[in-house]
Amino acid sequence: MNKQIKGFSKLSKNGKIEWIAETFFDSPSKVVDFVKSYWHTNPELQKLHDDFSENTITNYYIPFGIAPNFLINGKDYCIPMAIEESSVVAAAAKSANFWLSRGGFKTTVLSTTKIGHVHFMYKGDGEKLKTFFKELIPVFYKNTLSITRNMQERGGGILDIQLKDKTAEEPNYYQIEAKFETCDSMGANFINSVLEEFAKTLREEIFNSDLFTDEEKDITVVMCILSNYTPECIVRTEVSCKVEELEDPKHEMPAQKFAEKFIQAIRIAEIEPYRATTHNKGIFNGIDSVVIATGNDFRAVEACGHAYAARNGKYSSLSHAKIEDGVFTFWIDIPMALGTVGGLTKLHPMVKFSLEMLGNPGAKELMEITATVGLAQNFGAIRSLVTSGIQKGHMKMHLLNILNQLGATDEEKEKIKEHFVSHVVSHSAVVDLFCKMRGIKNESKVAKD
Ligand code: MEV
Repeated sequence: MNKQIKGFSKLSKNGKIEWIAETFFDSPSKVVDFVKSYWHTNPELQKLHDDFSENTITNYYIPFGIAPNFLINGKDYCIPMAIEESSVVAAAAKSANFWLSRGGFKTTVLSTTKIGHVHFMYKGDGEKLKTFFKELIPVFYKNTLSITRNMQERGGGILDIQLKDKTAEEPNYYQIEAKFETCDSMGANFINSVLEEFAKTLREEIFNSDLFTDEEKDITVVMCILSNYTPECIVRTEVSCKVEELEDPKHEMPAQKFAEKFIQAIRIAEIEPYRATTHNKGIFNGIDSVVIATGNDFRAVEACGHAYAARNGKYSSLSHAKIEDGVFTFWIDIPMALGTVGGLTKLHPMVKFSLEMLGNPGAKELMEITATVGLAQNFGAIRSLVTSGIQKGHMKMHLLNILNQLGATDEEKEKIKEHFVSHVVSHSAVVDLFCKMRGIKNESKVAKD
C-alpha cells in the first residue's frame, strides 16, 4: 500500500487523522477515537493549541509537577516543572528543602547580551571592506530604527556592530557580528529582523559605492541568523554552608566525608566527558522542565549550555564545588536566553499559569530561577550518587509506572507501595509480588526495563 501523500497539510484535521488511521493502523476507527480522546473538551482551547504548530491532530501530555520551598535570593518560589521522567520533581523538591534551612540559593545574572550574525562571502580587498564598514555602522543603526525603536524604549536594542574577518578559516568568509539587549523577550524575531535589514543595507551600500570593483560588489549573503550560543547571557547560582551543616542522617556518613565525596564527583565531571554528559543531562532535567513550563525554547537553552560546557575545547561539567575555610560552596555558571514576554507567554494557558505562580518574573529573574533549579537538580543527583546510589530513590519513584504497566488497582498499588517502603524495588520484585497477590503465575507479563 502506498504510504505517501501529497497535500497532507491541506487536509482538514479530521481528514489528516483518517488518512493516518487508514494508512498505518489495522483498526482505523479505534485509532480515530483514540486520537480524538486526547482532544480538549473545550473546542476554543483545542483550537488555540492546534494553532501553535502545523499539521496538529491531537495533544501529547506530559506531567506538570510542582517543586515547592525554593528559597532564591531570600524569596520563596513554587517551581512549575513540565517533565515526564520520574524522580526529577521529587529530587528538585528535596534539594530545595535541604537548602531551605541552610540559607537557600543565591543567584545573579552576569549579563543578558545576545548575539547574531550576517554570514557573507566577499571576494575583494579586505582592508577596503574594513574601512568602508566603519563608516557604515551609523547607517546600520539608522536603517533598522523602525525595528529597534520599541525595543529601545524598553531599554534594549543593538549594543554593538562589528565586522569579523573569518577568511583565515574559510576563503572570502566575513560576518557582521551584532550584539543585542532584548530585555524581557527572548528576542529571536527581533534579532533576525535586524540582521536581515543589516544584510540589505550592506548589499545596497556596497553596490552603490564607487570604492568597489564589479567583482567586489558581488557579495553573497549566505544567511542572517541569531546565535543560540550566548556565552555572555549568563547566570550564576550558588549554595554554601559550613561543612558541618551538611550533616544529614540520610547521608549515612559524616558531613566532611560527604562534602569530600561530593567534590570528588564534581571533579570527575569536570575532567571526564563521559561523566560530564550525564552530569549535565541531570542539570538539564531541572532546567528544561522549567523552560518548557514557562513557554521557552528548551532546544536553544540545551544547545547553548552544551556549547558552553565545551568552551575550553573539552566537554566538561557546568557545575563546580569547593571547600574553603570550612565552607562548602556549590555553584553553576550557565548561559541561557529566556523570555517572559512574546512567544507563547501570553498564549499558552499553562505558561501564563506558571509565570503567575512565579510572580510574573522578568527575563533576568526567570534565568535566576531556572539556573537554580538546574543546580538543585544536580545537587540531588550527586547527593544520591555519592550516598545511597541513584537506583534506590529512582526505583521508588518508578514503582508507580511499573504498577500502572501491570494494570494494578488502587488497592493493590497501596499494598505494594507499603511493602516496598522497607524492601528494595526492582522490576522483577514488583511483578513477583503483584502476581502473588493476584494468585497468578508470573509469566513476565510486561516488558522489563
Ligand atoms: C538521570 O536523568 C540524571 C542523572 O543520571 C544525573 C547524574 O547522573 O548526575 C541521575
